[in-house]
Amino acid sequence: MKSESASISKKEFLDQKNAEAELGGGEKRIEAQHKKGKLTARERISVLIDEGTFEEIGRFVTHRSSDFGLDKEHYLGDGVVTGYGKVNNRLIYVFAQDFTVFGGSLSETHAEKICKLMDLAMKNGAPIIGLNDSGGARIQEGVLSLAGYADIFYKNTLASGVIPQISAVMGPCAGGAVYSPAITDFILMVENTSYMFVTGPNVVKTVTHEEVTSEELGGAMTHASKSGVTHFVAPNEVECLLSIKKLLSYIPQNCEDEAPRVPYTPTNELRPALNTIIPPSSNQPYEMREVITELTDEGSFHEVHTHFAENIVVGFARLAGRSIGIVANQPAVLAGVLDIHASQKAARFVRFCDSFNIPLLVLEDVPGFLPGTDQEWNAIITNGAKLLYAFCEATVPRITVITRKAYGGAYDVMNSKHIGADMNYAWPSAEIAVMGASGAAEIIFKRDIAQAENPQEKLQEKIAEYTEKFANPYLAANRGYIDEVIYPEQTRQKLIAAFEMLENKVAVLPRKKHGNIPL
Ligand code: HXC
Repeated sequence: MKSESASISKKEFLDQKNAEAELGGGEKRIEAQHKKGKLTARERISVLIDEGTFEEIGRFVTHRSSDFGLDKEHYLGDGVVTGYGKVNNRLIYVFAQDFTVFGGSLSETHAEKICKLMDLAMKNGAPIIGLNDSGGARIQEGVLSLAGYADIFYKNTLASGVIPQISAVMGPCAGGAVYSPAITDFILMVENTSYMFVTGPNVVKTVTHEEVTSEELGGAMTHASKSGVTHFVAPNEVECLLSIKKLLSYIPQNCEDEAPRVPYTPTNELRPALNTIIPPSSNQPYEMREVITELTDEGSFHEVHTHFAENIVVGFARLAGRSIGIVANQPAVLAGVLDIHASQKAARFVRFCDSFNIPLLVLEDVPGFLPGTDQEWNAIITNGAKLLYAFCEATVPRITVITRKAYGGAYDVMNSKHIGADMNYAWPSAEIAVMGASGAAEIIFKRDIAQAENPQEKLQEKIAEYTEKFANPYLAANRGYIDEVIYPEQTRQKLIAAFEMLENKVAVLPRKKHGNIPL
């Protein structure tokens, strides 16, 4: 850092310092960053924030350490650019780690800057966006940097459910650098340039003798499809930053706020294409995204966690200009069965929507929970219970449409009337039963079938009997568990009316410190 010289004016001195801060770790390192196909912290902020609205905080902060040669190396800003600005004309707070300064590693002062920003974001009720690009704890600072991480984790947790927290991982994020994003609401990664792992490939090799590349261990597609750690994957950094802007457009500023509405002119809301979407045989798959597209405002569906647990689809959309969260079984993948990952994915999404006043729409076509030792031994019971718990606890307006199967425990779990859904619709194709007709007939008519002259004929007869009785929505509608059996083409119209009717819904949970969701 340069010191004030008598030969330059105070203004020139400030100009110099500002120019120095702009350069972060210096031109060479910026060049190296660009060569990797990565933007600098400041370039990323300029893509994210509305032009001319960024106000920086703490630009001249430097670290206080003098160990391991750090006394000779000071960079203004200490490896993180922090500030506030507007995205789509709405206030947000942003920090961007600067890999050109000590690899974006987190020092005591770097952490203090992030914490200060988080405090401001919470007090003023606006989202905080973290653009992470960090080698983790600054090794030269020892426990001071670990303490800095812990301060951030603590504030992430306090902010959870108060303001939306979004983390883009835009470089190698190791050690502590992954746990703050993990506590936040959404993670985005960039293909081929971002990595997340608790310990990198070298440590893995030493400890477990596994040979694995960074990409395989913690690249964007690994976390998008295998672990589910990341919710979004972008092909490059600019797309990633634009994706944050899009995500923000569906969500409110804080837990007391409503999501922004976009102008909407009512049209003919009938959607005749839905009348033919269910295949003739109940075992045939169909694409639930086609149903979502027909039901929601044109081009408004923004899918979350696209590559993870594809047997369930979750995402934001707009209905008559209003933000909603959608949870939909996907008959095109594993028949839409609920398994561990699908339950985790949907539960987390339901809780986000409920935290931030986003009404929920459930589209149901589910044959039940996935059987088997793998699922049982890995706790489908506990994980399925997460989704059940998340729906039970949600107080936002909640609507379910059963398009086809609603079998067994999955009927209860998928936002049934019994666990607090406000409006429950079924299409005439709905089958609401304890299980599919052939399985049911085999169990309850086992003796009749065994004693029959022609067991196969008897089985078919009993299947038909069970189908007639239960493979429809009418028993549920008789009891009021289904509010209305509707023609598929009417569904959009019904949803718009019902969500409008539920707009001022007030539901209060019993007083408690906090619930104990099965984790
Ligand atoms: C200090 C660091 C650093 C760190 C990188 N640098 N990581 N400085 N502390 N943690 C510096 C390098 O010395 C180098 O400085 C510059 O950043 C760029 O690093 P390179 O290694 O040249 O870059 P690259 O080849 O792209 O590799 C990036 C990397 C690697 C994969 C992140 O640097 C790395 O493995 N770093 C260590 C990761 C780590 O183990 N962190 C501690 C995790 S423990 P120059 O001067 O050459 O530019 C942790 C505990 C918290 O975080 C736990 C809380 C739960």
